[in-house]
Amino acid sequence: MHINIFSSESALAEAAAERIIAQVRENAEAVIGLATGASPVAVYHAWGKGAATLGLDQSRVRGFALDEYLGLDPEDSRSYHAVIRRDAVAGAGLNAELVLIPQGSGDPEAPAAYERAIREAGGVDVQVLGIGRNGHLGFNEPGSPAQSRTRVVQLAASTMADNARYFDRAEDVPTAAITQGLGTIFEARELIVIAVGEAKADAVAAAIEGETTEDLPASLLQSHPNVHWFIDQAAAAKLSESVALVAAV
Ligand code: PGA
Repeated sequence: MHINIFSSESALAEAAAERIIAQVRENAEAVIGLATGASPVAVYHAWGKGAATLGLDQSRVRGFALDEYLGLDPEDSRSYHAVIRRDAVAGAGLNAELVLIPQGSGDPEAPAAYERAIREAGGVDVQVLGIGRNGHLGFNEPGSPAQSRTRVVQLAASTMADNARYFDRAEDVPTAAITQGLGTIFEARELIVIAVGEAKADAVAAAIEGETTEDLPASLLQSHPNVHWFIDQAAAAKLSESVALVAAV
């Protein structure tokens, strides 16, 4: 694992964006895995800005989102369809037609169709990931099997509590989602994991320095051959001194 700790979020975002841009420069049809949530927003903007500065043609870049709530209309501003359009597609300057998002309609064919689409695209070159306070990746909550594929899942209580900030009423917070599985995510050739803020410090330390266990899905990243962590100082606060010293950028 490559661990990078940054003193500012803008430096973090630029460094993470640089890795994505390098892939797009190498392959105009690169396949990028897109995460929702607050963590990657600055990265998407730095990516879009960097690509524009270079005059990079991104019209053929393909994208796959990690997850979607079950039961929200794709036009609902809180749906991940809307979040991906706003933060990733508009932020990074992507072609919306080439960015796929799992269907949260409950269609029983949707998980297998999504897996097939990723496979037919040749797999994911770079996957952007956030990490939940409980160590989840996508909506793979603690206890998710390491080999899991795209499927419908129930959300953990801590995830629903974190997501409640986007909903006016507690009863509107979705309780289920469709998510790429851990097995799906770990097939990406490169993983970029972004963790910002002190709420993530325990999960980051356990994921990087703790035992690998399905009880903390992010700890399973230790087994992936090409993981790059981008962490701010607050999220890095609980790493041991020896790791933090080496990782400081
Ligand atoms: P956040 O979510 O980026 O909004 O903190 C990350 C996650 O839960 O995976």
